[in-house]
Amino acid sequence: MMSMRAVDIIAKKRDGAELSTAEIEFFVQGYTSGNIPDYQAAAWCMAVLLRGMSAREATDLTLAMAHSGHMLDLSGVAEHIADKHSTGGVGDKTTLVVAPLVASSGLPVGKMSGRGLGFSGGTVDKLESIPGYRVELSHSQFVHQLREHGIVVAAQSSDLAPADGKFYALRDVTATVESIPLIASSIMSKKIAAGANAIVLDVKVGSGAFMKTLEAARELADLMITIGQAAGRRVAAVIADMNQPLGCAVGNSLEVQEAISVLQGNGPSDLLEHCLTVGSLMLVLAGHTPTLEEGRAVLIHKLSSGAAWHKFVEWITAQGGDLAVLENPLRLPHASLIEELPSPRAGYIAAIDAQAVGEASVLLGAGREKKGDTIDHAVGIVLRKKVGDAVERKEPLLVLHANRSDRLAAARRHLLNAFRWSDAPPPPLTHVYEIIPKPV
Ligand code: URA
Repeated sequence: MMSMRAVDIIAKKRDGAELSTAEIEFFVQGYTSGNIPDYQAAAWCMAVLLRGMSAREATDLTLAMAHSGHMLDLSGVAEHIADKHSTGGVGDKTTLVVAPLVASSGLPVGKMSGRGLGFSGGTVDKLESIPGYRVELSHSQFVHQLREHGIVVAAQSSDLAPADGKFYALRDVTATVESIPLIASSIMSKKIAAGANAIVLDVKVGSGAFMKTLEAARELADLMITIGQAAGRRVAAVIADMNQPLGCAVGNSLEVQEAISVLQGNGPSDLLEHCLTVGSLMLVLAGHTPTLEEGRAVLIHKLSSGAAWHKFVEWITAQGGDLAVLENPLRLPHASLIEELPSPRAGYIAAIDAQAVGEASVLLGAGREKKGDTIDHAVGIVLRKKVGDAVERKEPLLVLHANRSDRLAAARRHLLNAFRWSDAPPPPLTHVYEIIPKPV
């Protein structure tokens, strides 16, 4: 047989043909090992972006990327290990609430998370605002913590799906991020390598999400479910709104404080509602409860009994976090400049552009402008008004937490442009558009 050549595989995809499993494996292995250079991988990614991939090709790509490094085996820990993944949003601190909530119900949660990406925050950055919390765990530490405590959340380790790390960095600078098969295989390769077998995908749609339309979000969710099932995992998806930030807090330690409020029975209702939706789906997927309603009832009980909060404390302290800070969240990093943003007019809040709020938090220093920047865990934004709320002129729309006055001024200007007002109450935003597969 003639040996394969990268240029022929690029040409085949450029012309719209379906690649074989062997061709996809050849390409992924060649790029990961350095035999295929960046320029050929970039041309191939662009061909995939323009021509698309069948579900079979996307599955082959995912499995090849998952097998490019270490595959974590969690099957000895429990029959089902749950994981969740959000496609990225603003104010999305769901993991901080859902992981201990679900673990306190007896379903172990083992999760690897990422850092912030552009305007959208990352769980690892949020957790690092807790002094002492260790995000870097070896595989044996990860498994040990899961076995002992039924919950672990660590940073994505670099030897899991290294092919994805390489492809993602390349896509970021070659305008090839926005391809549904490439996004699906990127996310699922990491989930499959991380070992959990009951995976809930929280697919965000709207102004503050990668997916701007419901159709695109549905296509991404369907493809990720198909891929996960082909790899022998149980997978379900929630398609949830990201047209305004989730909850009120945006910024690392502010989001940790808000998650603590929810676990202590307070906190914004949209965030609680979202956590109950994602958490009950995890319980159903792993066979712990037969229906979403029963799952929800279990979770509400775990919140009101204090079990979820105790699990949170157990989890964070087992990973090195300072107990004194959890008991008094005011000891989390806090900002020196705290200012309200008054509403320039009276009316109803008609829209809050989530992406603009995320960008403002990056201006304050809560996210990175470029790779490797250090972030300020203390800064961010706390919304006082959400879509549908009535507001008087000069009443605060939000509170800014900053450490530098120049950054505060820039964020203030950016945030005013994020709001839209109306004279009559706007129609309520849909929170969950769809659950796939449809619940029974
Ligand atoms: N998140 C990922 O992990 N990969 C993508 O391609 C996009 C978002």
